[in-house]
Amino acid sequence: MKRRPTNGQLEGIYPGAYKMPKVDSHAADGGELADAALAPLRTALAELRERSPAVCMAAALGSLRSNVDPSEEACATHMTPLRRAEFIGGRLAIRQALQDAGHAAPVVVADGQGVPLFPEGYVGSIAHKHGRAVAIAAKTTTADGLGIDLEFDENCDEESLVAEIITEVERPGLAAIRAAEPTVLSPATLVLAAKESVYKAVFQITRTKFDFDDAELTFRADSRSFWAARFPGDKYLAVRGEYEIVDRWIIAIAYAVSEERGPASK
Ligand SMILES: CC(C)(COP(=O)(O)OP(=O)(O)OC[C@H]1O[C@@H](n2cnc3c(N)ncnc32)[C@H](O)[C@@H]1OP(=O)(O)O)[C@@H](O)C(=O)NCCC(=O)NCCS
Repeated sequence: MKRRPTNGQLEGIYPGAYKMPKVDSHAADGGELADAALAPLRTALAELRERSPAVCMAAALGSLRSNVDPSEEACATHMTPLRRAEFIGGRLAIRQALQDAGHAAPVVVADGQGVPLFPEGYVGSIAHKHGRAVAIAAKTTTADGLGIDLEFDENCDEESLVAEIITEVERPGLAAIRAAEPTVLSPATLVLAAKESVYKAVFQITRTKFDFDDAELTFRADSRSFWAARFPGDKYLAVRGEYEIVDRWIIAIAYAVSEERGPASK
């Protein structure tokens, strides 16, 4: 079974692919720097929110100076400063999204595998990239699982990425994305974002690990949406998703919903 490359490995596989300067993790948490860095993400999230009003969405900068709950802080003690900044940025974003969804004082710790644990009655997801974090949250009446991924569209080794991420069945979908999004440098990065959002939405329900070639997505490039045609784990789950692209930032979100609330679905 192929192992999914991490961002760090992708940097090794595709030298120069992640050259974009990171936001200084010691930077002030607000102000012009934050606003400028987060503006395209907020625009993309606003577009996605219009299409899914029940899902709350937020963005934040990675930060070492912001306060998070001590139980959240405790999840990050072993992390490098850069990783801790990302982690805290993710906690700031998910806190905002959960508050917008109706939780008064949300705390999101992680389990031993780093999987976020959301407050009772809520689901959510976190992603980060290049010092920015995004998160989505909703009540469990909206979805059984949510997933989000954030990628930056860069001119990487598209051929290798296609081989790693995309199955034969998905090739026509990739061609449709290429045709519908002529300014996108790496359509495979867009598919990667969609697949990771699906993985996150599904894993929090099924706890079943899977790789890129274990899942197949069908894209509707004209409406920037997709659904999961095949993935391991749970026959009762239906997973669909949407994406937006603003200033080369790609955000994909996925919703996993039980078709029938049978015994295997929760
Ligand atoms: C979970 C995973 C997708 C995260 O992707 P990433 O590019 O490393 O990092 P991202 O910034 O996108 O997301 C990180 C966040 O995802 C969340 N996360 C971690 N593991 C998770 C899991 N198993 N399920 C759901 N969310 C998870 C965490 O909130 C994490 O941020 P935090 O540690 O600061 O809280 C990746 O680490 C992984 O395990 N991949 C292997 C499986 C896979 O990708 N299969 C593809 C199937 S199509």
